[in-house]
Amino acid sequence: MLKVGVFGVGHLGKFHLNNWKEIPGVELIGFYDPNDDTARLVSEKYQLPRFLDDSLLMDTCDIIDVAAPTNHHFELCEAAIKKGKHVFVEKPLANTMAEARSLVKLAAESGIKFQVGHVERFNPAFLAIRDMALNPMFIEVHRLAQFNPRGTEVSVILDLMIHDIDIILSIVKSDVKTISASGVGVMTETPDIANVRIEFDNGCVANLTSSRISMKKMRKMRLFQKDSYIGIDFLNKKTEIIRLKEPQDSNVFAFDIETPTGKKTIAIANPIVPEVNAIKKELKEFRDAILNNTRTVVSEMDGLMAMDVAHQILDKIGNNIITR
Ligand SMILES: NC(=O)c1ccc[n+]([C@@H]2O[C@H](COP(=O)([O-])OP(=O)(O)OC[C@H]3O[C@@H](n4cnc5c(N)ncnc54)[C@H](O)[C@@H]3O)[C@@H](O)[C@H]2O)c1
Repeated sequence: MLKVGVFGVGHLGKFHLNNWKEIPGVELIGFYDPNDDTARLVSEKYQLPRFLDDSLLMDTCDIIDVAAPTNHHFELCEAAIKKGKHVFVEKPLANTMAEARSLVKLAAESGIKFQVGHVERFNPAFLAIRDMALNPMFIEVHRLAQFNPRGTEVSVILDLMIHDIDIILSIVKSDVKTISASGVGVMTETPDIANVRIEFDNGCVANLTSSRISMKKMRKMRLFQKDSYIGIDFLNKKTEIIRLKEPQDSNVFAFDIETPTGKKTIAIANPIVPEVNAIKKELKEFRDAILNNTRTVVSEMDGLMAMDVAHQILDKIGNNIITR
């Protein structure tokens, strides 16, 4: 049995508790959270011991699950790695680039397993195309949310856009060439809405819009590549693929269209979207990486790369932010 302790049992930490309880081969030992009211409620609801000494909980566990606010990620992860414990940390990896680099170095030296909670990698709508050959040349993303004070200690880039940055970096196998960005802080001192254009060395262009001050929610990514269009709806868990029909395709809706180079058949397919709980799957795959000594799906290096792009975006916005 792998023993797990959860550090931070607020909004997301509670989802982690619910899921760890249902994952075989894992035993929840307890939690650490400095907030007395939250701790009392969690202890009662989950019948789980609250540790007042974070170091003692770490010593008692094999897996340290960090779901505390981002500005506490570094101190908790550093302590856990130094004790030789496997670490799962919520996104973003850390508060600053220096902290993130330091964690990557420490993790590499220690040989422990480390995973960052970029949970959209486990979203069923993305899982439906995870094994497809992807080579997009143009990516359009909209991630819009209604305002909620939770999470606003960081900008919309580190709060929401970083999910899409991570997904895009996992798909586009090329280095970032240039970034241009604009953002506005409306409800907070940091950008609440932003538009970003990322150009890659291979010519791919990604255009991302993120907002946490919208009237309605949307989480859509559209990939355009030579042979197909792929639409991923992370919110409604739907995926659509439109492409030129190949002879073996039969189970798709198709129609003919006249083009300057002759008649083409267009096929529209909705791949089967697996029915999975994304948080449970990411924690389960982390457990499997420990048990099988394999690479974690979202490594500390992936977390660092997403942060690096996010911080480049913030630097650009810092130059042209509209202040009030
Ligand atoms: N993967 C996702 O989609 C997603 C979504 C939301 C939040 N998050 C991330 O999860 C983390 C927590 O966010 P949240 O929305 O649950 O916040 P939250 O404020 O609801 O909960 C954080 C909890 O951590 C506790 N805490 C504070 N300092 C601590 C410390 N030193 N050690 C242990 N616990 C401590 C707080 O008392 C609180 O109960 C953040 O890093 C956030 O970016 C990820």
